[in-house]
Amino acid sequence: MVIKAIEASQTWQIRHEIMWPDQPFEFVQLQEDNSGLHFGVFVHDQLVSIVSCFIKNTEMQFRKLATLEEYQGKGIASELLNHIFKVAKEKDLKKVWCNARTNKKSFYEKLGMVDTHQTFIKEGKEFTIMETLW
Ligand SMILES: CC(C)(COP(=O)(O)OP(=O)(O)OC[C@H]1O[C@@H](n2cnc3c(N)ncnc32)[C@H](O)[C@@H]1OP(=O)(O)O)[C@@H](O)C(=O)NCCC(=O)NCCS
Repeated sequence: MVIKAIEASQTWQIRHEIMWPDQPFEFVQLQEDNSGLHFGVFVHDQLVSIVSCFIKNTEMQFRKLATLEEYQGKGIASELLNHIFKVAKEKDLKKVWCNARTNKKSFYEKLGMVDTHQTFIKEGKEFTIMETLW
């Protein structure tokens, strides 16, 4: 498994297939993508997991974390998140946060993130804001 910085456009296919398959392809292309840092996990040269990071002041928000279905449950997204936590620390950022799908809350808790108890609904799905402080 190799983690590399990738282009925003390389994230779109997995974002669409795994997160929003019922939406048009353009739905997963964010206006902010140009200003983000994007990372991918490659297994045998195949891109299998992605995440996008957006830095504002001293905080990093990560969005659109997804792993191809056949590669899920192998610790790949956990490695990817630990990688971006390291990047954030190297940049001396104070916080990493995300709008987590509420049903994935325990996944983020295992990685040391905490529930801020702020929730909202988007496109019929419930989200919870999770954060890491150090
Ligand atoms: C959420 C998602 C990104 C996780 O990706 P993943 O690569 O499967 O993540 P991991 O394998 O690191 O962890 C998934 C689970 O497998 C477990 N796991 C299994 N084998 C593991 C191993 N060898 N090492 C570490 N964890 C392992 C983890 O503990 C975790 O358990 P949990 O879900 O009960 O907390 C993936 O399920 C996904 O793409 N889902 C659809 C999109 C989505 O919901 N994105 C997140 C929006 S908030």
